[in-house]
Amino acid sequence: MPSLEHIIYASVATQHFGSSELAELLQKSRTSNERVALTGMLLHCDSDGSFFQVLEGEPAALDQLFQKILMDKRHSHVTLIIREPIAKRSFAEWSMGFSGVSQAQLRKIPGLNDFFRKGSSFTELDAGRAKNLLIAFSEGYWRPEHLGATGTWA
Ligand SMILES: Cc1cc2nc3c(=O)[nH]c(=O)nc-3n(C[C@H](O)[C@H](O)[C@H](O)COP(=O)(O)O)c2cc1C
Repeated sequence: MPSLEHIIYASVATQHFGSSELAELLQKSRTSNERVALTGMLLHCDSDGSFFQVLEGEPAALDQLFQKILMDKRHSHVTLIIREPIAKRSFAEWSMGFSGVSQAQLRKIPGLNDFFRKGSSFTELDAGRAKNLLIAFSEGYWRPEHLGATGTWA
């Protein structure tokens, strides 16, 4: 079995990411992630333009992509929250799951509501809260019946 790791990081967009910019980013990411067997999820908070991303796969593939992500001028303040080995993927089916979220939606997530009520951003998440967010996403918290609207599925 090849070794598996995940990287969880947050960043802040340096430009407006509307639906067409996001669609282009996702389309390219999904194609290229599939080629190197990377999976994961991306959240974009439309209230403050921040990103939260989970990437999972083999260490060499993660290194290569993360170097590119660090240099990507479309965002800044790239903050690595967690990098560690994992026993299995949480997003095996998704070359990149995606949802747009607002601060109001984030404030509804159990276990994270106090954090987001203070107006904190993804880049301030600690490892424990980042994992809660990962779990909320992988359990389908972003499906429309929970949040009523903007969530889209990979
Ligand atoms: C928030 C954010 C998330 C990204 N996620 C991915 C991703 O999952 N996979 C990917 O290939 N590129 C992703 N990119 C794009 C990379 O930074 C880079 O532009 C892309 O890998 C193209 O590299 P290349 O054309 O030099 O090979 C992301 C960029 C941003 C701003």
